Amino acid sequence: MAQQRRILLTGSGGQLGCQLQINCPDEFELLARSHSELDITDADSCRKTLQKVRPDWVINAAAYTDVERAETEPEQAMRINAQGARNLAQAALAIGARLLHISTDFVFDGRLRRPYRPADTPNPMSSYGRSKLAGELVIREAFGADALILRTSWLYGPTGRNFLTTIMCLLREQPVLRIVADQIGTPTSVLSLSGAIYAAIKADVRGIYHWSDAGETSWYDFACAIQHEAMQIGLLIQPRIIEPISTADFPSKAHRPEWSVLDKSSFTAVTSFDPRPWQQELPLVMEKLNLIQPVANFTR
Ligand SMILES: NC(=O)c1ccc[n+]([C@@H]2O[C@H](COP(=O)([O-])OP(=O)(O)OC[C@H]3O[C@@H](n4cnc5c(N)ncnc54)[C@H](OP(=O)(O)O)[C@@H]3O)[C@@H](O)[C@H]2O)c1
Repeated sequence: MAQQRRILLTGSGGQLGCQLQINCPDEFELLARSHSELDITDADSCRKTLQKVRPDWVINAAAYTDVERAETEPEQAMRINAQGARNLAQAALAIGARLLHISTDFVFDGRLRRPYRPADTPNPMSSYGRSKLAGELVIREAFGADALILRTSWLYGPTGRNFLTTIMCLLREQPVLRIVADQIGTPTSVLSLSGAIYAAIKADVRGIYHWSDAGETSWYDFACAIQHEAMQIGLLIQPRIIEPISTADFPSKAHRPEWSVLDKSSFTAVTSFDPRPWQQELPLVMEKLNLIQPVANFTR
């Protein structure tokens, strides 16, 4: 049997990190490090961990992901998303390991109105987006043509804090939900993204790529689809009222792209890994939701 290739995973306690552990193919040996086990802002820890583990690949799923809070603590977002990425890159280069780094549609301004290609010019509109773009730049600077950056969008999964789990809580607690209807993008399941990540490593790809599920929608329509599916599988007994609102009606410090659909064709060309419609992925994630009680009628 061929020797397993070894992967070191950072940020293993996050929603993507958890799924990467569940989905890891047999041909890889995955060593997972949570935030408390490896803080990527600590250059010395990164260097020592990689020297000890000697992985063939590092997957960086660690990040500062609180888009709102990043507006009030941009230095902290930059420290984790850019300096942390630099620490990992330098530690990986020192032992000859490859690094797969995850980035975001928020590096774009959302004004293009056709699916963003990897070579399109970024123009982040938020502190979070700027810190993620800075992370991309340090990875490209360190690895040159060997850099591997996968941008994704609207990530959600059965665990952690994300749009799906937030909506499920709101459906439980509130009779009326007001959801933004004028921001368009593509929800992406951590199940499919983790598959794409392993496909990229297997194909040994290099460069910047985009991955999301297929199709496009608004947050409002996504919330309606979540409610519909929750009714179908018995997690919700009575539907709530979901009202569409505009971005202007939703108080927010961070500016988010209005339209940030990603063009995945170059990724599919090098990996043969095809995205499926987000509507098909949603039920697969929702059947894994760990809710003890169905969402009962709103009584308060
Ligand atoms: N969520 C989205 O909608 C979205 C969209 C596009 C792209 N992305 C990108 O996808 C990737 C995965 O995101 P996610 O949604 O899985 O995020 P997540 O659930 O917030 O997980 C991020 C993980 O990183 C850890 N972390 C934070 N600071 C760290 C540090 N200094 N050292 C080590 N670990 C640290 C966090 O630990 P603590 O919880 O202990 O801080 C958490 O476990 C990120 O690169 C993100 O930018 C996300």
